[in-house]
Amino acid sequence: MRLLIIGTGGMANSHATNFSAIYGVSLVGGVDVDPGRLTAFCAQHHIERQFVSLEEALAWGEFDAVANVTPDRVHYPTTMQAIAAGKHVFCEKPLATDAGKAMEMTEAIEQAGLVGMVNFTYRNSPAVQQGRALVLSGAIGAVRHLEASHLQSWLVGNHWGDWRTEPKFLWRLSTGHGSGGALGDIGIHIVDFASYGSGLDVAQVFGRLKTFDKAPPDNRIGAYQLDANDSFTMNVDFTSGAIGTIQATRSAAGQMDQLRLRIYGETGSVEIVYDTGQSSLRACLGEDVHKATWRELPLTPVDTNYQRFVAAVRGGATLEPSFRRAADIQKVLDAAIASNASGRDQGVV
Ligand SMILES: NC(=O)c1ccc[n+]([C@@H]2O[C@H](COP(=O)([O-])OP(=O)(O)OC[C@H]3O[C@@H](n4cnc5c(N)ncnc54)[C@H](O)[C@@H]3O)[C@@H](O)[C@H]2O)c1
Repeated sequence: MRLLIIGTGGMANSHATNFSAIYGVSLVGGVDVDPGRLTAFCAQHHIERQFVSLEEALAWGEFDAVANVTPDRVHYPTTMQAIAAGKHVFCEKPLATDAGKAMEMTEAIEQAGLVGMVNFTYRNSPAVQQGRALVLSGAIGAVRHLEASHLQSWLVGNHWGDWRTEPKFLWRLSTGHGSGGALGDIGIHIVDFASYGSGLDVAQVFGRLKTFDKAPPDNRIGAYQLDANDSFTMNVDFTSGAIGTIQATRSAAGQMDQLRLRIYGETGSVEIVYDTGQSSLRACLGEDVHKATWRELPLTPVDTNYQRFVAAVRGGATLEPSFRRAADIQKVLDAAIASNASGRDQGVV
């Protein structure tokens, strides 16, 4: 499979490393509007062809699929161009900046008969795959309640760099630069993680979004107005009748990148954790329920989204996480935004 990478910033390194490790995959070209970044990236990953626009790359056209690793608001126009040119697409999350655009992309790729998948990274955790299988097997009975959180701390600690000076952080803080804030950036992950891990679909949301004052006096740094949300909470009703809470923040000192999902059922509980590269799965089942005892379950590695995308292109059929799934999750985010604005519960439609 011949792959073109669009957007050669931070996350593109993960795409290049993972895709090039798959037998039979060649990285044949890179695209970035920043020529310096493009050249350095292509040199580092031994990529021969460089393009400063997607149009140029499509005019050349000698590739089967694209990995779209551009900033959030660039996903829609570039993915639609790639689909029109008959290329399979592996797109970064969030698929688009709202559910309407995400659904348009979904319909376009399905009608074209191309593979369209989205990089919900935390699906690569064996804990969420095995935890979901446990829940779906009926091991905890019907799910009644869940609590889910995605905790990062780059607004407090500098372990990933300085958000006040680096563009890779600043665009994430600015709606004018296409960011959906913590909700769009990590909310999309934790809503998918919670829903996928529990096997439940969200029916209704009460959402609360918060943007903190971070750069006095006008919350602006250079061209970046820091108006995107930094934290959110959601009270959620699932279609099954279960309820739960989902929350995320960039200000949780002590946590670099932790997703924790606890699922409570009629006859037991499951805890799924991904913490900065480490996964764990615990359960309280059977007689342990009467002693409130949790047991650690062994984990075995699962295929990554990169591997699943390559398998999907080779097999000619989209696998999960698909564009459609990503668009459905985006509907939950849009409901949280509408709920925050109205102060009322919002159905997911
Ligand atoms: N799945 C994950 O866990 C995960 C993690 C980090 C980032 N991401 C996502 O990956 C995407 C990129 O994030 P990043 O951290 O690499 O950002 P980044 O700012 O480091 O890189 C983005 C790159 O895209 C380039 N670009 C902008 N417009 C372009 C265009 N029209 N054509 C070609 N290139 C263009 C920029 O010049 C930049 O080099 C975002 O959507 C982000 O949400 C996902």
